[in-house]
Amino acid sequence: MTIHIGAKPGDIAETVLMPGDPYRAKWAAKTFLKDAKLVNEVRGMLGFTGTWNGNRVTIQGSGMGMPSLSIYANELISEYNAQTLIRIGSCGGMQPQVGIRDVIIAMTATTITSPSSGIFREMNYAPCADWSLLRAAVDAAEAKGTKTHVGGIYSSDVFYAERPDLDEQMTRHGILGVEMEAAELYSLAARHKRRALAVLTVSDHLQTGEALPAEEREKSFGDMVEIALKAAFP
Ligand code: HPA
Repeated sequence: MTIHIGAKPGDIAETVLMPGDPYRAKWAAKTFLKDAKLVNEVRGMLGFTGTWNGNRVTIQGSGMGMPSLSIYANELISEYNAQTLIRIGSCGGMQPQVGIRDVIIAMTATTITSPSSGIFREMNYAPCADWSLLRAAVDAAEAKGTKTHVGGIYSSDVFYAERPDLDEQMTRHGILGVEMEAAELYSLAARHKRRALAVLTVSDHLQTGEALPAEEREKSFGDMVEIALKAAFP
């Protein structure tokens, strides 16, 4: 047990999928895993371990934002020996060619600040995905026929942004979408020599104002979970 995860040693698989929402963790475990067992419910941040195609997988909620994700990813890595961590979540589209329901596979994650800023200080570190996971995820998405974009995203510290000029610069520099967790996950994975990737569904669009209707979120989320599982076990 750690401060924030109540799982027993050995309860967590080496491969962990991390949605922000703990109820999404529950839904994904029920939908995709065999013999899924609840392994964490501290603070309601649900985690489940089961198998997918015979491979052990944990699906653990991360909460929203990099400080929350950092707590869970640190404990999963340092105390439970997680080797492969894949964020599955939603993001806001930032390019005209990126549509609602499309999938974004994040090659890099730009930030202004993150929990790691204190370490990086003057360095503009470029958090990037694990290549083997990225390649396998792209292969899985193509095989599935999911409309997918691969490139840079922006991990923001705020959902309610007050700097439209900043969004404009991100868009101008090719950033595909905005979310709030991937950059810290990539930085932690690099620091601890683990593999990380973020596979995201576009749930809303900053320029068009479109948003995915609630009843459609589940189906789009399912495609993303499948891509993440196939990336982990190609
Ligand atoms: N901003 C930040 N995070 C998000 C968004 C957004 O527009 N949509 C989904 N996650």
